[in-house]
Amino acid sequence: MIPEPYKIKTCEPIKLVEREEREQSLKKAHFNTFLLPAEKVYIDLVSDSGTGALSTNQWVNIISADESFAYQTSYFKLMEITKSIFPFKHIFIVHQGRMGEHILFKFLIKKGFYVLSNSLFETTRKNIKYYGGEGIDLPDELGNIDIEKLENFINKVGASKISFILLTLTNNSLGGWPVSFENIKSCNSLLSNYGIPLWFDASRFSENAWFIKEKELPKLSINQIIKKAFSYADGFLMSAKKSGLSSVGGLIGTNNDELIKKIKDFAIVVDGFTSHGGMSGRDIASMAQGLLESTDEDLLNFRIQQLRWFGNLFGKIPILKPTGGLGIYIKTKDFLSVEFPSMAFSNEVWLEGGVRGAPWGDYYRLAVPRRVYTNNHLQYTAEIVKKVFENREKIKDLKSIYPDKSGLGIFGAKFRLRKKLQPQITRIKRIKKKTISVKSV
Ligand SMILES: Cc1ncc(COP(=O)(O)O)c(C=O)c1O
Repeated sequence: MIPEPYKIKTCEPIKLVEREEREQSLKKAHFNTFLLPAEKVYIDLVSDSGTGALSTNQWVNIISADESFAYQTSYFKLMEITKSIFPFKHIFIVHQGRMGEHILFKFLIKKGFYVLSNSLFETTRKNIKYYGGEGIDLPDELGNIDIEKLENFINKVGASKISFILLTLTNNSLGGWPVSFENIKSCNSLLSNYGIPLWFDASRFSENAWFIKEKELPKLSINQIIKKAFSYADGFLMSAKKSGLSSVGGLIGTNNDELIKKIKDFAIVVDGFTSHGGMSGRDIASMAQGLLESTDEDLLNFRIQQLRWFGNLFGKIPILKPTGGLGIYIKTKDFLSVEFPSMAFSNEVWLEGGVRGAPWGDYYRLAVPRRVYTNNHLQYTAEIVKKVFENREKIKDLKSIYPDKSGLGIFGAKFRLRKKLQPQITRIKRIKKKTISVKSV
């Protein structure tokens, strides 16, 4: 086990509130753990976005940041740092990733066109749809884009109907698994035959680079890998709130002079002036420093090893393996035959130990914030999850009373406990039977 490559100078107290209080807050949150008030949460693994701890140098930069309206000092610092990381002529600031999508897609997407991806984040898919396009996920079994399926799709609809390909690094929908360097190269070489642009959703770019270093390019530094991998892309967009170690912010990168002019003109109407993207000088100062720290190999090494260690604590609980760069994805459907298995499981973990995870597609996800929780917190979490898993026959089924109207998943959804509880034992027996029959086939 690798120890944390930092020491802790400031700490924020957390408290496990009584079970009765946990029950009441869950009821008030309509049995949706997303809607729980954070102050009641003991260990919060609901998201890795904007939840990381800031470093001493980030705080120093926050305190000393210049708050001028235009071309403030931190803007130039951010430009210097981002241009030293990403090989693009133009880097543009937005206040968070989805705003980057909204601004960029206005100029890249036409009605009836497709965007193909290894897996799109839900706001990305929605922003594509907003401009009349359609997002299609073509992942292979490792989280890459499936090159064969990609080629077949291009041939089926015709290259002229495809706006661009968007590779999500790492794949948030599938285990936080990385896109390999080989996949990036193959994708680029296929697309150059058709003249289709390749873009990256680089929200977890440095963790993706770490995996490439481990498996494919061990002799290169993280910064060299990022430069090499990004040289195959026409541009990138990203949220800086993930591996960028920032509380807020996002970026767009391109070499296209015409495109950047359009982006600037539109952004000033919907997000903010070119040098701030709707953020304060201190936000940008912190973001610049966060990006600088995000490529630190010791930090990346610790993060991935900590996640792997965490993953190994789940024993026989079915999780997506190998553990990727984001968190733990539990396959609740494999052992719970209720209508909302991940939310029902999430409710029970909350009640058992004050831990907040969240349903994520087909999984119950425990997303690990960066530099926040120690191995003890994670060990406690795994013990709570194990306890809930062992007593899974007691998990109560939910009934939807209000669907999520954003269409982004279950963020705003409301539930109630089902009045008539189906005896879980029957369900578990049924699952057991199913498993046996699958095994015997
Ligand atoms: C892969 C990916 N892209 C884009 C976004 C959107 O970024 P933001 O939350 O900064 O708007 C997210 C957020 O979780 C994400 O995971």
